[in-house]
Amino acid sequence: MSQSVQSAANSPTARETEPWWKTAVVYQVYIRSFADGNGDGIGDLTGLRSKLPYLAELGIDAVWINPWYPSPMADAGYDVADFRNIEPSYGTLEQGEAFIIEAHELGIRVILDIVPNHTSSDHRWFQAALRDEPGARDRYIFRPGRGPGGDQPPNDWQSAFGGPAWSRLDTGEWYLHLFAPAQPDLNWEHPGVRAEFEDILRFWFDKGVDGFRIDVAHGLTKDPALPDAGERLPGSQHTDPHPAWDQDAVHEVYRGWRAVANEYADRVFVAEAWVANNDRLARYLRPDELHTAFQFDFLRAPWRGESIRAVIDDALSQAGAVGAPATWVLSNHDVPRTVTRYSRSQPDHLVETDWERSRWAGEQPDLALGRRRARAAALLQAALPGTAYIYQGEELGLEEVEELPGEVRQDPTWFQSGFTDVGRDGCRVPIPWSNDEAPYGFSPPDAEKDTWLPQPGHWAPHTVQAQHGDPGSFLTLYRQVLALRRQLWTTDEPVEWLETPHDVLAFARGGVQCWVNTGATDTELPAGMRRVLASGPGVTGGVLPADTAVWLTEPEHDR
Ligand code: NOJ
Ligand code: CA
Repeated sequence: MSQSVQSAANSPTARETEPWWKTAVVYQVYIRSFADGNGDGIGDLTGLRSKLPYLAELGIDAVWINPWYPSPMADAGYDVADFRNIEPSYGTLEQGEAFIIEAHELGIRVILDIVPNHTSSDHRWFQAALRDEPGARDRYIFRPGRGPGGDQPPNDWQSAFGGPAWSRLDTGEWYLHLFAPAQPDLNWEHPGVRAEFEDILRFWFDKGVDGFRIDVAHGLTKDPALPDAGERLPGSQHTDPHPAWDQDAVHEVYRGWRAVANEYADRVFVAEAWVANNDRLARYLRPDELHTAFQFDFLRAPWRGESIRAVIDDALSQAGAVGAPATWVLSNHDVPRTVTRYSRSQPDHLVETDWERSRWAGEQPDLALGRRRARAAALLQAALPGTAYIYQGEELGLEEVEELPGEVRQDPTWFQSGFTDVGRDGCRVPIPWSNDEAPYGFSPPDAEKDTWLPQPGHWAPHTVQAQHGDPGSFLTLYRQVLALRRQLWTTDEPVEWLETPHDVLAFARGGVQCWVNTGATDTELPAGMRRVLASGPGVTGGVLPADTAVWLTEPEHDR
């Protein structure tokens, strides 16, 4: 990078005065698959702590850690047995506290994952409900069944993982679980449930945690009449209105949570809310509710300039209307990896994440193409105003591991769909750190067990070690992207769209232009601009090749 770009960097003042979470780059740590310190094949806190220097060098502002609480792992930790402790296979509460301190020392904030829609069936509350202790069932959603003998579920709701959303106890009563049977839904009309979660927030805030990602934030409160969903079957989280999802009463919960966060300085919430549209999403972002919410339309957009532009416009205007930053997401532990999504034919509409997996069955991926596009998308994401989330392994350009044999799969989706939907294990495969063969440094050399999901035999070129220092690698690109992002933009410089041919996306933002060519042919770049960073080769002589992005500075920024 030249001196001119550095001197053109915007004043740091805006970054210092605005809340950190308005511009943060947050790295998602799927702890089970990040780094294994003790050789049992499962990621843990010792492993995570050992990789803090890697995260600092990558240039992120914060980490979001998927649930690290004690769990029977019916849904990879989203079945929480105790919200105030740490899963023993990950470590101890003391190690968690040490991690928070060490991360802070490196300037990395820590966001935990709170799971308020349901508990594990092993949680003491559900155990008490099973024993039918007085009042215990009121904390969950128990109902008598329908039909003769009550042997039909109370309504027609479907689990998001497949099959009915109700299971029956031996005593004859049914309980609701919008996910796995081992994840009973809580009753958010119960004051004790509300009080408990506000207390859990304080428990972790008091330990220095900087924020929470809220699991299924659009769940929690249901239509109290529990009516049939009818046509809105099966279990899609995107249909609206649905009596199980995105009910107005949930907003009162978040007003209470915001008041708790406001007791502390600089804390943040980020909602996982799969709702019908950005108008509905913005309701979670009102000034007395949640600070941020994932913008999933960004990852659901096909690789087409017009679709991506429409998503960006809609997201910015809806979030902007309530004064919230947009929160860009390309990937997470629930959706196919970006490289793989972009490696197959692209639909002409936003994709449903479950539908995508089956739609592609049998279509060979062109991973080289997917990687070119994913590199371009990294430049696009980082050039947008707001916050950006990066799922572990995206910075290495990992693809979805589609070849996992059925017997190693662990996602409840695989089981509850009757082995028809392979589920999400393919994006959860342990990270390759070093060496030429599995476990690629994920576990220590003397590890007793294999990694909890097997890694592909061909990942040697994708390890951190192999990519480190290679100017053409994904990892190097991500480091450059994150370093330059800090220098080129402060906070909310607006996006100004530029005239472009069909399938090319270009905008100016704070004296920098971002061009993304999603088309099949070269496109011409404006004359007189200086190239700051390109996602791939061939950006020369005023030409931007297909599936490539570039950042350019305007002449006045070169002075
Ligand atoms: C969303 C989480 O991201 C996903 O992994 C989990 O299965 C469901 N919520 C249920 O908690
Ligand atoms: Ca371990």
